[in-house]
Amino acid sequence: MTARTHSKPVAKLTEAEAKRELADLAAEIARHDALYYRQDAPTITDADYDALRLRNAAIEDRFPHLRRPDSPSARVGAAPVEAFGKVRHAVPMLSLNNAFADEEVADFLARVRRFLNLKEEDGVEIVAEPKIDGLSISLTYEDGRLLLGATRGDGSEGENVTANVMTIQQIPHRLKGRSVPERIELRGEIYLPHADFKKLNEDQAAAGGKVFANPRNAAAGSLRQLDASITARRPLRFFAYAWGEASTVPAPTQLGMLEAMKSWGLPTNPLTRVVSGADKILAYYADIGRKRAALGYDIDGVVYKVNRLDWQERLGFVSRAPRWAIAHKFPAEEVTTKLIDIEIQVGRTGALTPAAKLEPVTVGGVVVSNATLHNEDEIARKDIRVGDTVIVRRAGDVIPQVMGVVLDKRPKGLRAFKMPETCPVCGSHAVREADEKTGRTDVVRRCTGGLICPAQAKERLKHFVSRNAFDIEGLGEKQIELFYDEGRIMRPADIFTLKARNARLPEDQRLENKKGFGAKSIENLFKAIDARRKISLDRFIYALGIRHIGETTARDLAKALTTFDALRTASRAAAKDGKDSDAYQELDNIEGIGETVVDALADFFGEAHNLEALGDLLKEVTPETFTHTVTKDSPVTDKTVVFTGTLEKMTRPEAKALAERLGAKVAGSVSKKTDYVIAGADAGSKLAKAREAGVTVLTEDEWLALIGRA
Ligand code: IVH
Repeated sequence: MTARTHSKPVAKLTEAEAKRELADLAAEIARHDALYYRQDAPTITDADYDALRLRNAAIEDRFPHLRRPDSPSARVGAAPVEAFGKVRHAVPMLSLNNAFADEEVADFLARVRRFLNLKEEDGVEIVAEPKIDGLSISLTYEDGRLLLGATRGDGSEGENVTANVMTIQQIPHRLKGRSVPERIELRGEIYLPHADFKKLNEDQAAAGGKVFANPRNAAAGSLRQLDASITARRPLRFFAYAWGEASTVPAPTQLGMLEAMKSWGLPTNPLTRVVSGADKILAYYADIGRKRAALGYDIDGVVYKVNRLDWQERLGFVSRAPRWAIAHKFPAEEVTTKLIDIEIQVGRTGALTPAAKLEPVTVGGVVVSNATLHNEDEIARKDIRVGDTVIVRRAGDVIPQVMGVVLDKRPKGLRAFKMPETCPVCGSHAVREADEKTGRTDVVRRCTGGLICPAQAKERLKHFVSRNAFDIEGLGEKQIELFYDEGRIMRPADIFTLKARNARLPEDQRLENKKGFGAKSIENLFKAIDARRKISLDRFIYALGIRHIGETTARDLAKALTTFDALRTASRAAAKDGKDSDAYQELDNIEGIGETVVDALADFFGEAHNLEALGDLLKEVTPETFTHTVTKDSPVTDKTVVFTGTLEKMTRPEAKALAERLGAKVAGSVSKKTDYVIAGADAGSKLAKAREAGVTVLTEDEWLALIGRA
């Protein structure tokens, strides 16, 4: 649904009309806030959203006595859903990596084999099952009784929806059978079948209620009802497919676990199969693809999981997804619509990105009015022109893309698109630099304005407060835009001095007296800011937005250096003394870190203005010393180890992951700080260096004995 814009001028509204419209606006803005803040799925443009808020403020200005208790002007962002209690997941509810092309599935299998160091003749059984497009749920059973139902939330913490899941017929209150563990947390997907979705929307429309965009939203909306009797009237369904914490795991395979769950009375998907080899897997995918339309419920792909649980355990997780599973998604839906304009956005690093403004169109159940065009070369290659009818594709939660043009529908006289050569925000030259290494011209055009470019500054601030960085509740992209434009927050340190500076302002300029805010929301904002004065080192590093340093790299750096001081000292020395310095080498030696990252660190810490901004920030914020969330008392806790040569019992990534789980630091090269070098077959220079430096050298078996895995 797009924003409804009321056309009658505010000055001409009657009191009754104003009252009705304020009610509409409160509901509509709350809905968009929720889509934006909680589901990360806005359905209208920022401009349309701002228009709604402005209209609301204008009406309230004219009729102050009609201002509602739930007025949007009293809120920053979405109010947290406080009505449901929070639940921390003992085992995080992670997501799945996606594959779209057949090769990616083959790559997945190859990765699994490599990681497990399998021989050619070893088969890998895969459990293949449909990927249900619903919402995931966690169900905790104790002594067979349903104790707790929780949503996924952000993966670590969800909402307590026990009363609601209790109303779902397919979810048993008691598990039956003998093999039920004393305590087990079962996981699966809640969904709404097509027929029920259709009926629900008809009923809702007839009653003047909310009409849902797709079955997934309807299922989510139906579950998260404060009044569980409403959930009870929605025919939600459930498939079990996974588990979290369990006192015992009654089967050694994924399939065995599914069978156990089925025997306990939980519905499992009847299309689940065990298959081996890329050909069989792809045949399964094709088969489900053919059956998809007739299933009666939405699926968006199939999921492959390694059947053996001991292998799943060895494979473990990377970032937020298991190495032992992958989602093979169905191709994205495509539609055509008109390209109204190409807007140029300026990113955190000054990159100018063209964005398509589209005539709103529904694709994959969501209204789309923005899409990505990648870069100017792509636009030229596809010859995309403003005014064209374009093909738009949307795949799951991926940003919609403009795929190409319907040339037959091109009106006469459209002009080819030309990328601006100056930054649309600050007017500085925008250039395509040559890559230092390859000499090729970069596809990305960058604004050369650096610090003077407000767009770059804003984007850096947005990154700083983003979910995986400082994650400050109530301080999202919109507030950053606003506070920057008003000069309240120009640099990260300003966030933390905002409260003190605000208190010193003349009363009428204080935030709490600004239109669109209220005393309560500002108080909450200051509280949320204060709560982040201590922050984990990896988040802090990531928040700085240094080029090439994403979450994983930030974590690698935090793990290896453990304090921010160590990072700053090493990076400054690397900047000052260059590539041959010890500091440069020390950074370069960290596992997962290469020259590109070290160069980026040196660039960042070599700039006086960055050091100054950082110094001010560190007066307000303390990055915590990195502590490993791993075994604290293993024989190798806090030891620095280096693997070299070919290992026999495990692959290198597996050995590394295991060492890290036991609290060891894994380095890429031998230094004075190395405690153990584990030398496999054909170990070369590192072994020699270890001997020279007098570092203890272990064989693989000795190492395994040391860590108790022999
Ligand atoms: S397994 C550790 N199996 O897809 C991974 N997930 O994109 C556990 N989903 O959050 C998930 N059908 O909500 C798994 N058969 C299936 C699934 C499935 C749907 C959802 C689930 C998950 C999301 C990841």
